Amino acid sequence: MLIDTYGRVATDLRVSLTDRCNLRCTYCMPEEGLSWLAKPDLLTDDEIVRLIGTAVGSLGVTEVRFTGGEPLLRRGLVDIVERVAALRPRPRMSLTTNGIGLARTAAALKAAGLDRVNVSLDTLRPDVFKTLTRRDRHKDVIEGLEAAREAGLAPVKVNSVLMPGLNDDEAPDLLAWAVEHGYELRFIEQMPLDAQHGWKREGMITAEDILASLRTRFALTPEGADTRGAAPAERWIVDGGPHRVGVIGSVTRPFCAACDRTRLTADGQIRTCLFATEETDLRGALRSGASDEEIAAVWRRAMWGKKAGSGLDDPAFLQPERPMSSIGG
Ligand code: GTP
Ligand code: 5AD
Ligand code: SF4
Repeated sequence: MLIDTYGRVATDLRVSLTDRCNLRCTYCMPEEGLSWLAKPDLLTDDEIVRLIGTAVGSLGVTEVRFTGGEPLLRRGLVDIVERVAALRPRPRMSLTTNGIGLARTAAALKAAGLDRVNVSLDTLRPDVFKTLTRRDRHKDVIEGLEAAREAGLAPVKVNSVLMPGLNDDEAPDLLAWAVEHGYELRFIEQMPLDAQHGWKREGMITAEDILASLRTRFALTPEGADTRGAAPAERWIVDGGPHRVGVIGSVTRPFCAACDRTRLTADGQIRTCLFATEETDLRGALRSGASDEEIAAVWRRAMWGKKAGSGLDDPAFLQPERPMSSIGG
């Protein structure tokens, strides 16, 4: 079991498969990209499967989410999913992706054992998409979403970050569209995890702003705290149901007290939190021949050091060195 000093138990493992991405979202990374991790530093497919095996076999992990960067850029993804599906106890498996390439891979991922996907889409307007992501790929994302639904990767969730002056007027349109297509939409408050360190609290569209905007067109009733569990999204019933909309208020409505997450970066570092300032080198242990039991012990010790919260409200808060694309979203 991965328990911390506050009694929280981590059962949800988020694995970053690459720090690379084929988009350049302005709230994430600069136009020119970043200095990517070198190949020898990345965990191999075998190493990833081995570590997930230890997590589910010895540490009580029941959910595995693949993230990035953009995880569909990892060539071995379908194979990794297939091998993780063969582990016992079999964890539930999901993928967080920007959707580019999903049209091509959704059916294979489902066949390999992936349960569901979360796709990032911030706007319904192709021109705004191009400004926001610096790439003209809106159509690919829409096609990826449709393919995911057709492949039965259910529920298909859509993540939207609203940016002032760009897409902050689109919340009701995005919700109407998601309801029509049967996607579960969640709005995310922008967090200080951009590579450029340009985040400002004053410039952030808050959960409250988002709800006010949605209420201009929809009746929202809270789903109730008891259904939230450790999920970061608070959910509202839309116009009496059955559709729901989520808001992930990481900054103004943090859910750290219920956090059930542990993270593995593409270069094999354990992070106890998105905002952790320290990492634990699991790759080093692995490559020096550690046994499963030794790896499990390193992991347990790392999680024991998990802090109470993100520290975002601390006046001395410092953004982590690594940007979101390298930590894993
Ligand atoms: P499900 O609800 O189980 O589908 O997963 P999720 O919402 O956690 O996953 P997803 O990868 O779609 O993440 C949605 C948003 O929540 C992203 O902006 C993540 O960065 C953010 N998020 C994920 N994990 C954490 C976390 O531990 N802390 C905070 N503050 N935000 C997180
Ligand atoms: N704050 C909040 N969400 C972010 N994402 C990327 N960068 C940030 C940030 N700084 C979102 C992506 C994706 C999810 C993994 O995280 O849009 O939906
Ligand atoms: Fe890529 Fe995700 Fe960052 Fe956008 S937010 S550039 S899709 S890693």
